[in-house]
Amino acid sequence: MFKNFWYAVEFSNTITKRPTLITLMGKKMVVYRDSQGKVVALDNRCAHRGAALAGGWVEGDCIRCPYHGWRYEADGSCSQIPANSAAIPIPKRARVEAYPVQEKYGFIWLFIGDLPEHDRPPLPLFPQFEHPTREPSQSVYTFNAHFTRTMENTLDVSHAPFMHQGSVGKSKTPENTVIEDYELDVTEWGLSATLGIKINRINGPMRFFLKEDDQDPWKQYIFAPPNITYSGVNFGRLKIESILAHIPVDENTTIVKSVNIRSFLNHTPLISNWLDHNTAQVGTRICTEDNVVVQTQLPRLAPLTNSTELMVASDATLMAYRKLLKKFSDMGWITDAS
Ligand code: FES
Ligand SMILES: [Fe+2]
Repeated sequence: MFKNFWYAVEFSNTITKRPTLITLMGKKMVVYRDSQGKVVALDNRCAHRGAALAGGWVEGDCIRCPYHGWRYEADGSCSQIPANSAAIPIPKRARVEAYPVQEKYGFIWLFIGDLPEHDRPPLPLFPQFEHPTREPSQSVYTFNAHFTRTMENTLDVSHAPFMHQGSVGKSKTPENTVIEDYELDVTEWGLSATLGIKINRINGPMRFFLKEDDQDPWKQYIFAPPNITYSGVNFGRLKIESILAHIPVDENTTIVKSVNIRSFLNHTPLISNWLDHNTAQVGTRICTEDNVVVQTQLPRLAPLTNSTELMVASDATLMAYRKLLKKFSDMGWITDAS
């Protein structure tokens, strides 16, 4: 896992005053809202005897361990040990780690690493998700693969004709699977690529809204480290956009949570909700198709160089992605666990 980054770890609206357990590559954290609605993230393991704080409860801005009732402040320090008389000072080591938190684009972001505030990489920019016309819809899918592989899958531009004809639709020219050279923009903190879409007939009700024959549809792919990819499908003025958070639960499990917006049919709740539901179904089908193959890929972790695989021109996004991962690894931005 990469460190010194902000990880999107959960939907904002999932986090309440009830403690929620978050697992990142086996490491467990507890997240909750304090009395002001501010999100607090602490190490889940109680400093006393290791019980899970997520099994406890929130009191004001604090969380109480369910085992012997130690009370922790939002900064992770223990402020009460019920079995001790109040006159006994609380030991310095009675504390758990507190993680910096941000809330943006419908996600909770935790900073994992040891950089001071001003040296931390920024969150990616998705201004269209800051004040969407209506609440973004949400999707969740669990992959049986490492997150470096699931992210890579969403940046892979040439597998759709083989894996997604069932869910998405038939190619314009099934015999022509050639990917022309495409625009690729690599920056310090990510990459973006833009490609034409070769689908002739989209499955499901979406095809009545997207008059794809009138336009040259195109798709934008973005990778924003450590765990975000973005997909923007454009049919003329109509757009369907998703931010996907690839939450690395462990080496073989990644929960992908996405927020999705579209630029049309946002004002009639009945139609909007029905279309959201349909989009979510298609999304689940796409992920199921991807999961079947991605879980078979070896090695389990995406290799940082091209030496154990054979990339070709259409894999330009993936080569750039690997280069970025290699750069962060060379900077020493890898957690001990991996
Ligand atoms: S284990 Fe948490 S208070 Fe004892
Ligand atoms: Fe796919």
